[in-house]
Amino acid sequence: MLKVNVKGCESFVDADKYESYVNKALAAFDTLQSENGAGNDFLGWKHLATDMRESVLDDIESIRASWIKKGVDLVIAIGIGGSYLGAKCVIEALSHNFARQLKRKDAPEVVFAGNNLSEEYLAELMDLAQERNVACIVISKSGTTTEPAVAFRIVKQFIESHYGKKEASQRIVAITDAQKGALKTLSTQEGYKTFVVPDNVGGRFSVFTPVGLLPIAVAGFDIRALLDGVKKAERALSVKHPDNPAIVYAAMRNYLFSEQGKKVEILVNYNPKLTYVAEWWKQLYGESEGKDGTGIFPASVNNTADLHSMGQFIQEGSRVMFETVLHVDNAQRSMVIEYDKQNLDQLNFLAGKHVEHCNHMAELGTRIAHIDGGVPQIEVAIETLDTKRLGIMLYFFEFACGVSAYTLGVNPFNQPGVEAYKKNMFALLEKPGYEEATKAIQERI
Ligand code: PA5
Repeated sequence: MLKVNVKGCESFVDADKYESYVNKALAAFDTLQSENGAGNDFLGWKHLATDMRESVLDDIESIRASWIKKGVDLVIAIGIGGSYLGAKCVIEALSHNFARQLKRKDAPEVVFAGNNLSEEYLAELMDLAQERNVACIVISKSGTTTEPAVAFRIVKQFIESHYGKKEASQRIVAITDAQKGALKTLSTQEGYKTFVVPDNVGGRFSVFTPVGLLPIAVAGFDIRALLDGVKKAERALSVKHPDNPAIVYAAMRNYLFSEQGKKVEILVNYNPKLTYVAEWWKQLYGESEGKDGTGIFPASVNNTADLHSMGQFIQEGSRVMFETVLHVDNAQRSMVIEYDKQNLDQLNFLAGKHVEHCNHMAELGTRIAHIDGGVPQIEVAIETLDTKRLGIMLYFFEFACGVSAYTLGVNPFNQPGVEAYKKNMFALLEKPGYEEATKAIQERI
């Protein structure tokens, strides 16, 4: 399945104290499984794959087929936070690194919008849209989030002016609440095909709903294989045992946080395809645990690149962090270093070796150096980065997040702090209804 190895924490651990964190994590596991903890009305994510209706998958696949039939070669997926990062991370993890440059035509290119408010970004997106055959997936659970709403207004106008209003309704799909929100109302009015984000699934846990599955399928990936991995992980992680990888991960990170003063967790990868898995993970853990004045700050590095930037700090800077290394046993492609007669670069000692072997030795060498430098190491290992195992890994992190946040003593499923910036932004933008707040904030600047 997936392995969690905490050997790299041994020298930092007092066995008796650690045992008490395993017990806390086992109790947190019970809370999650008996569904009686804080936020228990948001546990729909636990069984999404096993409960998935075939008809939903068929609908997703038929949208993909209809867009391909129309010659669509650019799909703009609009969303932010949990309505963006799941699809983005799966597509990046499974795509050829140079798919765009190779101009592969086997699936439409999926690009993302609504995850920022940059005018340049949207203007340049429209430059691209001018040259391509465009469709759009607009995703917002609440249906009222500003960033995607602004992007959608622009993309909708573009599609309508290019293809006409009737055809636009065939090229726009909305994923939103079943009943409420501006996006639901608009979709009904315009006749868009819609998918529902279930009430009991929060944004950052929604990758295995149509929020993630539709963009992933449109980009050409096998969502059934992804869900097979999720089902496998769901079965394996539901066993209450101290060796359950979710319990090991939750217990160790809470131990390091509370007993060793490790306030920062760095998710480390050695494959650029995992960069956005780390972005997704940061949202998952940051929003789930960072509240009530507590929580581990989730950070990430992409190695070996970041060994030449952040490596110095991790080795010798403030001793506030531990690392969780995403280890992948086998590369899916083969590239061997050749013998060179001149050997000017002095690399003949590597002749005949796979590049991935060097990558693994860099990883191992770094981990030992970081342990020596006071940075505990957790390893999360999968055999290879394929669709099924990616499903396993993402579900593992979701489940472990629930266990870990309950171990920490916070509600994993709310995010009250996200509202603060919105209030200020609306006040500064002079949104009707915010008059008092506008006056107050203007006095402060
Ligand atoms: O995890 C969350 O709930 C948030 O990050 C949301 O996903 C994000 O704010 C986007 O919200 P919405 O889908 O309602 O536009």
